[in-house]
Parts: sequence; C-alpha cells; structure tokens
Amino acid sequence: MFTKNDTVKCILHNKNWKITEKNAQAYAPSNIALAKYWGKRNAELNLPANPSVSISLADKGATAIINTIPDPQDKFIINQKNVFGNKHSARLTQYLDLFRGPKPQFYQLELQVNIPFAAGLASSACIFASIILALNNLYAWQLKTHELSILARLGSGSAARSIQHGFVEWDKGIRDDGLDSFATLIPIRWSEFCVGLCIFETKEKAVSSREGMQHTEATSPFYADWVEYANQSAGEIKSAILQQDFLRLGELAETNAATMHSTMLSANPPIRYHTQQTLDHIQQVKKLRQTGLKVFYTQDAGPNLKLLFLSSDMESIKQHFSNIEIIQPFHAVSL
Ligand code: DP6
Repeated sequence: MFTKNDTVKCILHNKNWKITEKNAQAYAPSNIALAKYWGKRNAELNLPANPSVSISLADKGATAIINTIPDPQDKFIINQKNVFGNKHSARLTQYLDLFRGPKPQFYQLELQVNIPFAAGLASSACIFASIILALNNLYAWQLKTHELSILARLGSGSAARSIQHGFVEWDKGIRDDGLDSFATLIPIRWSEFCVGLCIFETKEKAVSSREGMQHTEATSPFYADWVEYANQSAGEIKSAILQQDFLRLGELAETNAATMHSTMLSANPPIRYHTQQTLDHIQQVKKLRQTGLKVFYTQDAGPNLKLLFLSSDMESIKQHFSNIEIIQPFHAVSL
C-alpha cells in the first residue's frame, strides 16, 4: 500500500531543503468541476474513481505565504486570524507533515482566501494548491506542473486541478502509486465563457466532501452506476469544451451535477446539500432557459449554485440574479 509519504519521496527524492526565498508566496485559483469527482479508488492518496473536468476561477482563490519558524509547531493565519486547535489547522498540519524535510522544520503559513470557506466553493482546492506552489518557491524545487498537481492532490483531490488556470482535466490514472493521476490543461481559450457564483449561504457545510464521498461509496446502491456514468461523462464534457459547443456543455454539466446529487440522495442516510433556496434558483434557471436564455447551473457539496453562461448574456444574467458574482476565467490570465 503506497502512502502519501511514498509519493512525496518519489517526487522530492533529489531535491534540496535549503530555503532560497523567505516568505515565499504563491497564488492558486479555485476551480469548479463541470464533470465532478465524487468517489475514490484510493482514499489515502485521493485517487479518484473517475476523471473530472473543471474551470479555474481566475482571481478567486488563495494566496499562501510560507516561512520556516524556530517554534516546535506550525502557526496558521487565515484571512488575518490566527487559527489553532480546530479541524482546519489539523488538516493543514497533516499536509505540512509531508514536507518537514530531513531536519524537521515547522512553518508559519498565512492564507488569504477570497471565497467563502467550505460552503461548497472549493476553498480546499485553492488552499492546498497555493501551499504546494508556495513550498515550491520556498525551496526552489522547480517542480513540473504535473508533479505539483500530484502533491496538491495529497491535500485535497480537487486541488490537483487548481495548479492551472483555464479548463483543466484530472486523469484518474491506473497506477497504484497514483503517479499517473494528475491534472493537465485542456488547450483552449474560450474568452466568452463565464461562471456566476450565486452565493446565498456562507455557513460551513455539515457534511464535508470527504465524508460525503466515503458515505456515498459505502452505502449508495447506485454508486457503481455513478462511477460508470462519470467516467463517460468526463470525456463528453471535455469534447464539448474542445468544440466550444456551449449548449451541449451546459446540458452535460448540469446533468452531471444532478446525477452526482441523486447518487448522494440514494446514500443511507441520504446526503442532501440543497436548501429551498437552491431549488428555487434551479427552478429559475430552468424557466429562464425556456425563455431562450442560455444559462445552466452546476452545484457542489453545498447549497450554492454556480451558473454557466456566455458573456453575450451577462447583462440579462445580472438582471435576473441580482447578487451574482461573475467570473470571466479567461480575462486577466494568460494561458
Ligand atoms: C463536489 O476535493 O474537496 O466539489 O479529495 O476528499 O479533499 P477530498 O475532496 P474534495 O471534493 C470535491 C468534490 C466536489 C466535486 C469536484 O470538485 O470535482
């Protein structure tokens, strides 16, 4: 059985642990999956049961600033607040445990995150990706993009996709050591493509993605069907992106999210992330589509919705969803 430490050893075996840049800093965007990851072929290494496809959220994400400290424990500051003794700090410590080096090193890690925490907005994706990018700068490891993606995955599966901007595909891989499971860029720049964040709930979710996935795998009678469907759906979603076929992409992404949530609902006891507001917004999206507006939704492990549309419809979208935050993933980033 391969462990996280084995993965780290493989990738960092000839690397130096000399600090080359004090207070090393790095930014990683959050990402929204259009073809979802929900289920693992290996829980220790966060190896997914199916490939997934996402869009990175440009300037919505996390900046990590990291340095070593002489204290015998790590120090975490998240959005200007010291964080210790809770589940967030425990998860960060566990991740940093993988990167202590030959003479155990502790860190001060500051995170500036500009999306709500754990409300189904993929904050763990951008956090773990920004940490590994910052460590890469701290020690000047000069890791390759796929190596960074593998190391980010050890923190959170979806973080594998947050190493890059734009449309990204995360391969499930087939190797037991997971060294073939990393994310790569889908080579397309689709300037008109927009994502709208409809955030009506910023409270932390009751069931984390990790727990929710485990519970679905263990108890849903439809889990095997979901995995089969998700494997095929990811390929179809990728090809709709490559063809820039927005209607097809929207339909496929919406069905993918709905199928993931149906699978969760079939777990015992069911996992339900939607609230009345979620259902009302879904209803509104469907009604608007009937009037000819090309808008689709996707939903992750939380009640909030993400809308998919093209920039030509931006004004109508703003009129119908007054609190929406619009992201143009291909503006302000160079791919
Ligand atoms: C619904 O990446 O948070 O957002 O690997 O256990 O950390 P762990 O799970 P995580 O799960 C994300 C689930 C999702 C779908 C997706 O982003 O693909």
